[in-house]
Parts: sequence; C-alpha cells; structure tokens
Amino acid sequence: TRKKRIFSGVKPSGDLTLGNYLGAIKNWATLQEEYECFYSIVDLHAITVKQEPAELRKRTLEILAIYIASGIDPEKCTLFIQSHVPAHSEASWLLTCITNMGELSRMTQYKDKTAKVKDNEAISSGLFNYPVLMTADILLYQADAVPVGVDQKQHVELARDIAQRFNSMYSDTFVLPDVIVPKEAAKIMDLQDPSRKMSKSDDNPNSFILIMDKPEVIRKKISRAVTDSIGVVNYTDEQPGVKNLVNILCALKGYKPDEVVEMFNGKGYADFKAAVADALVDEFTPVQAKVRELLSEKSKLEEIYKKGAERASYEAQKTLRKMQKKIGL
Ligand code: ADP
Ligand code: NA
Repeated sequence: TRKKRIFSGVKPSGDLTLGNYLGAIKNWATLQEEYECFYSIVDLHAITVKQEPAELRKRTLEILAIYIASGIDPEKCTLFIQSHVPAHSEASWLLTCITNMGELSRMTQYKDKTAKVKDNEAISSGLFNYPVLMTADILLYQADAVPVGVDQKQHVELARDIAQRFNSMYSDTFVLPDVIVPKEAAKIMDLQDPSRKMSKSDDNPNSFILIMDKPEVIRKKISRAVTDSIGVVNYTDEQPGVKNLVNILCALKGYKPDEVVEMFNGKGYADFKAAVADALVDEFTPVQAKVRELLSEKSKLEEIYKKGAERASYEAQKTLRKMQKKIGL
C-alpha cells in the first residue's frame, strides 16, 4: 500500500510570519516521516493581489529556503514552485467550470478580504476564484489530506465538494481530501488585535512576528503586544492577548497551557513576555542562519526546485490527462 499523500503550500505574498511557521511549516516537517508530501510555494495564489515582480521572485526563493531551514527535507518531500507546473492553471479552469458562483461567494476568507472594499471593480476575479485554484493544487496530486491552519478549513471542504461533484458527474477520478489541523496553536492571533488571525498581509508590522525578524525586533514586538489590565497570566478567552502568547510559548516549547500559568504565578506580564520573546529568538536564530546559508548558494536551491517541478509535473499531468479525457477534451 502506498503512503498517504499530502499537499500544502504558502503563498509568497509577503514575508512569512510566526502564524505560517506554527500553523503550517513546522507541522509539515513533522508530517514528512509519515506521509508522501508535496509542498509548494504557491506563487499563482500570490498574484490574486498586485505583486512587485522582482520582490515576488526573491521572496519565492526565500520561502523555499525557509522550508528547508525549518526541517523540511527535499530528499523526502517534493518541494516545488506552483507556476513551474502548468497543470495547476489548466486544471483550475476545468474545475472552475463545475464550481458555482454561490459557493465561492460563501467563502468566509473572500468575504473578510473584500468586506472593506466598497467597489466590486477593485476586486480581481482571481481573488474570488482562488479556492478553485487551491482545489486544483490538492486534487492534481490525489492528496489524501491537507495540513492547514483552521483559517483554510473551509477551502479544503470546498475542494472535497468539488472532487465529489466531478467524481459523480464523470466517474471516480479524485481522492477526497481530508483536513489535518495541528492540535497546538492551530491559530496564531494578531499581536495588536487578538480577535484577528496573524497575517503577513497586515499593514501594521507590530501585528506580526516574521520568521526572519532580528532578535531585537522580536523583543520589541512582543513587548508591545496588546494584553489587558488584569496583570495575571491566565489561559482564558477573557484575556485573548495573553492567551495567544501562552499558545505561542506552548507551541514553541512543548508546554501545556496550565504549566505556563503555573510558571508565571505571581509574576507580571514583563517576565512572561520576556520568556515568550526568548523562546522565539531561540527558535528562529538557527533557522535564519540556515536560510542565509542556503540563499548564498543559489544553484543548490535551483537544483532542488527543478527536481521538485519534474516530480510534481509527472503526478499532476497524469491526473490532468484523466480529467481532460473524461470531460471530452
Ligand atoms: P497568510 O494569511 O499569512 O497570507 P497563507 O494564506 O499563505 O497565510 O497561509 C499559508 C498557511 O499558513 C496556511 O496553511 C494557513 O492556514 C497558515 N496560517 C497563516 N496564518 C496563520 C495563523 N495566524 N495561524 C495559524 N496558521 C496560519
Ligand atoms: Na491566508
């Protein structure tokens, strides 16, 4: 029997945050032992909003380096850049034709991202359709499961619905994908507004920690993180800022929330925040060193993404040919 397969990706629309690291990348490294993994840098998703070309290209390569520096092994996994495998765009169109406007309109991420935009003319139809491209990403590899943060759960459910629809319209073609959400710290919140998820698209840099942030920047951002006037480290929804920091510390150090509450019993937020900042610096210092090393030998990275694209294309083309044949193309 073949190992179960997973697909996942991060879009290079901004520098990667602690949310991407704990909600995605770190978990991917763990999964590579048990699953056959396809991990992508999904640049076609990034261009649903305007990107500066040189920046996009540079960031895409940096993210590949971050994957590897965070423990994802290119010998064990298929690491590739989405646009290098043209089947994604093609399959996406084929699936767009069996997806309704209604179900895309119900995607909460789309609603959130466009809530503040008053004029429909200012929203690209790519942003509206992007869950279909994500569906193609997953289905092309016949992925059994998709590890994502809770924010992406609805999109994976849509992928499953579309797969099921195609299977019943034509005949069994796609494996139906399940979601894998990491147990700890599935959602890292915004440091300035802990009711929102931490995102690289945020305008305020104090809202997020970047994987590549310098130690002094990490310390400053954590010291400025919004808490409350209660002054006691608890793990409760009444203290969302503190709760988020407890979750971060737990995810980095393997503690349970109760243990953290116990540890800071009788201490103030300054001590607590210092411990969170230390944990982040400990985690990211070696990752950053490795990223810099990898980026200094670009030919090695190039070899990795070329090999990855070859391997990914082989699988993706196989599925795409099946789709075309069944549709009558
Ligand atoms: P972003 O929202 O930062 O642009 P992406 O949409 O590229 O991130 O998401 C890439 C992966 O990172 C997804 O699996 C997503 O669930 C995860 N992720 C992003 N932000 C967070 C967060 N704040 N907490 C947990 N996981 C996150
Ligand atoms: Na997102």
